[in-house]
Amino acid sequence: MSLLLGVNIDHVATLRQARYALQPDSPNAEPSPASIVRDAKAGGADSITIHVRVDRRHMQDADAYEVKNTCDLPINLEMGNTPEMLALALDLSPEFVCLVPETREEVTTEGGLDVHGLFDSLQPTVAKLREAGIKVSMFIDPDVEQVEASARIGAEMVELHTGCFANAFGDTRKQEVQRLTQAANKGHALGVQVNAGHGINYTNIVDLYEVPHFAEFNIGHSIVARSVKVGFETAVAEMVELMKGYQG
Ligand code: PXP
Repeated sequence: MSLLLGVNIDHVATLRQARYALQPDSPNAEPSPASIVRDAKAGGADSITIHVRVDRRHMQDADAYEVKNTCDLPINLEMGNTPEMLALALDLSPEFVCLVPETREEVTTEGGLDVHGLFDSLQPTVAKLREAGIKVSMFIDPDVEQVEASARIGAEMVELHTGCFANAFGDTRKQEVQRLTQAANKGHALGVQVNAGHGINYTNIVDLYEVPHFAEFNIGHSIVARSVKVGFETAVAEMVELMKGYQG
């Protein structure tokens, strides 16, 4: 099966918020994340990822509903484990939810979710999402213990955090590829779908070809950055082309 691409469109909202955070109702407020979904699809995206953060720094609730109402691709909602976000997810009813750690101070999601340590507080959320027919993923560091905890808690998927991989070069990158390989093998053995995301770009993606069992990559920043030069559809299509090099 070919590797699927989930396109994270948060940074389309980041651009709008940079100018219009204090004037959300201005008719000039652009770009809207929902407006880019068609381009993502035309470029070959398989799903759309949005992250509604507790501080609403990029995606707003209205964006999430607009994407939901206009998008004919599956939607993956990334969210922290809070009652507010759970209520939003149950109301929005995306196809997938990816549970992520979230602290206000971080610029972006900096580490994986400690599913092992937070098992008891995460389990009811996973159960409620699954009861609602939403497939659940856990955004975790490439750590065998975290993969095992994710399988035990009932998640159908894990998303391995590739941030350390992306920030490592030379021999340290090779070590990160090994960590990802061990975690991917464990996920596969436990029957959990293995995805990856964070910091994947047009250059480092080839180093992920060595890691087995990936089903899907979630990519945002590098695609949005590239789109400034070549347009969104082409930026997505170029990433899809690179992903064809992955043999599984
Ligand atoms: N997956 C998760 C869980 C994330 O939190 C993010 C960043 O929002 C991404 C994927 C996409 O990362 P990037 O923007 O670096 O491609």
